[in-house]
Amino acid sequence: MFDFLRVRYPAVRALFAQILALAVVALMLIVLLQLAGWRAPLWLAALLQGLCAAGLGQWLGLRRWWLLLNLAFVPALLALQARELPSAWFFGAFLFLLLINWNSVREQVPLYLSGARARRRLSEYLADQPADFRLVDLGCGLGGTLVHLARDYPQARLVGVETAPLVFLCAWLRCLPRRNCQVRYRSLWHEDLAPYDVAYCFLSPAPMAKLWAKVQGQMRPGSLLISNTFAVPGVPADEVIELHDWRQGRLLIWRR
Ligand SMILES: C[S@@+](CC[C@H](N)C(=O)[O-])C[C@H]1O[C@@H](n2cnc3c(N)ncnc32)[C@H](O)[C@@H]1O
Repeated sequence: MFDFLRVRYPAVRALFAQILALAVVALMLIVLLQLAGWRAPLWLAALLQGLCAAGLGQWLGLRRWWLLLNLAFVPALLALQARELPSAWFFGAFLFLLLINWNSVREQVPLYLSGARARRRLSEYLADQPADFRLVDLGCGLGGTLVHLARDYPQARLVGVETAPLVFLCAWLRCLPRRNCQVRYRSLWHEDLAPYDVAYCFLSPAPMAKLWAKVQGQMRPGSLLISNTFAVPGVPADEVIELHDWRQGRLLIWRR
């Protein structure tokens, strides 16, 4: 009956959860007022809204960090409003988050970073490549993985592509002093993969099938796709390196 709520985009589901929670909490508070003559304080209403939105978010299949956002959203708004901050601050905060999480809504890929263990295991795995191998980090985030590999493999040619404006700027500045490392403001869908020996990514489940089609169409036989954690649906990886970290992450490796 509620299948229309199970839309693809998590941001839309989170919004649905907030709207439904608002209706549920408002109804509950009206009933309490009418029947018991009790008017709930605003902070309690905000807390109930957060709890209800998080519960509904879980029902709608949102991931854990979206549940936390849903839980905290209205209480945080209330807390900020109580401090009577100028409205420009809200706009500034919104703009800042937008410039960082540019790809969350359209690509369903937010910013989170490969951990130290993932970088180390990736670097160890690449020891079998020729010294001057070419690697692209598809959605390079803040450029940490590129910088790590640039240090370990001074002769390799490392490229990152990124389209979240602030994130790109940070990665570009970090790679600027490194001769063998370059960051481009470009969508991963517009990067030709043919010149690369290795394509590394840490995205989300959403783009993996489309990415696999791109790899099949563009990468040379013998080249590698390495995905941190996210599998290609229906295509078992040739190798899996368990990272044994808190995310239960793993490096999935496909050889073309
Ligand atoms: C989960 S982060 C991973 C960052 C980095 N690769 C790492 O492992 O630490 C994914 C990054 O991909 C970027 N991204 C998502 N879709 C993209 C696209 N179509 N083109 C370029 N970058 C994209 C996001 O902005 C985000 O910074």
